[in-house]
Amino acid sequence: MKATAVAHPNIALAKYWGKLPEGHNLPAVPSLSVTLAGMTTRTEVHFDGGAEDRLTLDGEVATGRPVARVTQLLDLVWNEGGRDGERPRATVVSANDFPTAAGLASSASAFAALAAAANGALETDLTAAQLSCIARRVSASAGRSLFGGFVELPAGVGAQAHLPAVPLAGPDHWDLRLVVAVTTEEKKEVGSTEGMKHTAATSPLYDAWVSSAPAIYERVKTAVVARDLAALGPALEQSALAMHATAMAADPGLLYWNDVTLRTMHAVRQLRRGGPPAFFTIDAGPHVKVFCRADDVAAISAGVEAIEGVKRVIVAAPGEGARVVE
Ligand code: DP6
Repeated sequence: MKATAVAHPNIALAKYWGKLPEGHNLPAVPSLSVTLAGMTTRTEVHFDGGAEDRLTLDGEVATGRPVARVTQLLDLVWNEGGRDGERPRATVVSANDFPTAAGLASSASAFAALAAAANGALETDLTAAQLSCIARRVSASAGRSLFGGFVELPAGVGAQAHLPAVPLAGPDHWDLRLVVAVTTEEKKEVGSTEGMKHTAATSPLYDAWVSSAPAIYERVKTAVVARDLAALGPALEQSALAMHATAMAADPGLLYWNDVTLRTMHAVRQLRRGGPPAFFTIDAGPHVKVFCRADDVAAISAGVEAIEGVKRVIVAAPGEGARVVE
C-alpha cells in the first residue's frame, strides 16, 4: 500500500488556456508539450488508513486546495482501478528538486507523479493513458507529464470525460533545449485555473482564441514531427502571445508579464537576428522560456543570462514520463 514515483514538468509549445463548460476539466483547445528532464518531482504515497488524506509539500504540511486535489486524484485512481468500498486515506510526501517560483508548472509533475505512485501503491494496474486521463481531470497539463518527449492533449469533445494525453514522439526525437529566463524570485501571479476561468468569462477575445488555437496547434505539431525549428518558432511564439493577448483583454485584464519579461522577448528576437535560432514561450507567469538547438545552447543561455534583469537561467532537455521508482 506504499509506492514512490517520479515525474517531470512539461512546457507547452501550443498552449492550453480555457476549459469546456461541460465539466470534467476538459480543455477547450488542443495543446502540445515537451516533458523536461533534469527537474523532478518525487512523490511517496502510503495508504496508511489515517483519519484523512495528508500532504507534505517540500517539507511543509499543506492544507486547502492542494489537499482537496490530492483527494480527488486518489479517489479517481481507486474508482477507475475497480476498487470497491471506502478508500483508505493516504499520507503523501512530495518534493521538487527545482524551485516552484521558477514558473515551471510544478502541478503538472506533482499530479503525474501522484497518479503513478497511487497506481503502484494500490496495484490497480491502470495504463499510462488511464493515469493520464485521471491526472488531466485534476490539472490538465499534468495529463501530459505521464508521457515523455513530445505529447499532445486534444481538446475535449462535449461532456465525454475520457480524454488522456497522447505521446507523439519520444525524448530522443529532437534534441531541443529549453533555456528558462527567471525574471523574478517572487511568486504572486494569478494561478492558471483561476486565470483561464476569468479569461473565458470576461475576455471579448476568448472566442477568437478558441477558434484560432487549433490551427496554431497544427502548425506546431507539423513542425515538431519534421524537427523544423524555423517553422516551430513563429508558431510557438504566436500560441503564447495569442494566449496572453486573450488574458490581457479580460476584465480586469490579466497581466502576467513584468518589465524583464518584455525586455527578454525583444532580446530573444534580437539574438536570433544573424545569430542561432531561438524562440520564446511564456506560461501564466513572468518567466520567459526560450527554445533552441542543443548545439546553440551555450550561446543562447549566455545571451539570455546577459539580459538586464534576468536573475538566472535554467537549461532543460526533453525527458521521460512519470514512473514508479520504489
Ligand atoms: C499556461 O494545467 O495548470 O501552462 O487544468 O486548471 O490545472 P488546470 O490548469 P493548468 O494550466 C496550464 C496553462 C499553461 C499552458 C499549458 O501548459 O498548456
